[in-house]
Amino acid sequence: MMEKVAHLSFILHLPGLSEDGKFHFKDLPGSGRRIDVLCRSLAACFDWGPSTLDKSELEIIALVGENSCLRVKNPDNDTAKGEVWWAHAIKDALSGNPPPFISVENASLTDAIAEFLAIDGVYLWVLEETGTTINQGNILDMNAQNIFIIGDHRGFDSEALKAFDDHSIYRLSLGSTSYLTSHCVAAIIAMYEEMVNDVASR
Ligand SMILES: C[S@@+](CC[C@H](N)C(=O)[O-])C[C@H]1O[C@@H](n2cnc3c(N)ncnc32)[C@H](O)[C@@H]1O
Repeated sequence: MMEKVAHLSFILHLPGLSEDGKFHFKDLPGSGRRIDVLCRSLAACFDWGPSTLDKSELEIIALVGENSCLRVKNPDNDTAKGEVWWAHAIKDALSGNPPPFISVENASLTDAIAEFLAIDGVYLWVLEETGTTINQGNILDMNAQNIFIIGDHRGFDSEALKAFDDHSIYRLSLGSTSYLTSHCVAAIIAMYEEMVNDVASR
């Protein structure tokens, strides 16, 4: 996988989602085994989430099903695309015909964790309801490359939780309410933008 990571990245751990690309656009949750979670998160990251942050600084690394890893970076234009547009791009990627802004490889969550922990200046965090409440500015180093691991609609499975413990990955929380995965992506982007704007206005 070794490739430069963007300034702010999200690893989405989505083991239950369909990885064969054979879902129907009119029934993403059912036929795609909740592939809508990924489509909505991509829309949050690249369509409507950022307001001041340059989108080229953002990346989503989606670990779909057993072993498919989709890295999404620099989608081609600034027009809001929407969930169905993203569903088409994911289907193409999973069917062996990825668009230029998606690279596909085989990798598991433990592969991804090991890769990113080996890179200097990369901070890996887990987002979990029961983690330490994010105290803006105290925890995040905005000059570093921060990567947040987020679960799917079912949260993290025991294998993922074990991998976090094995690698002592710090768990951060947005509060006790359980939010949608896409909401978490947008909330972190908003927090990050606020930090950048605070520093710029000093
Ligand atoms: C819809 S939630 C998971 C569902 C719920 N936790 C459960 O297990 O029933 C999807 C993911 O978003 C992240 N998440 C949701 N709410 C959060 C919060 N308040 N703080 C931190 N992360 C959160 C976690 O990574 C979680 O695995």
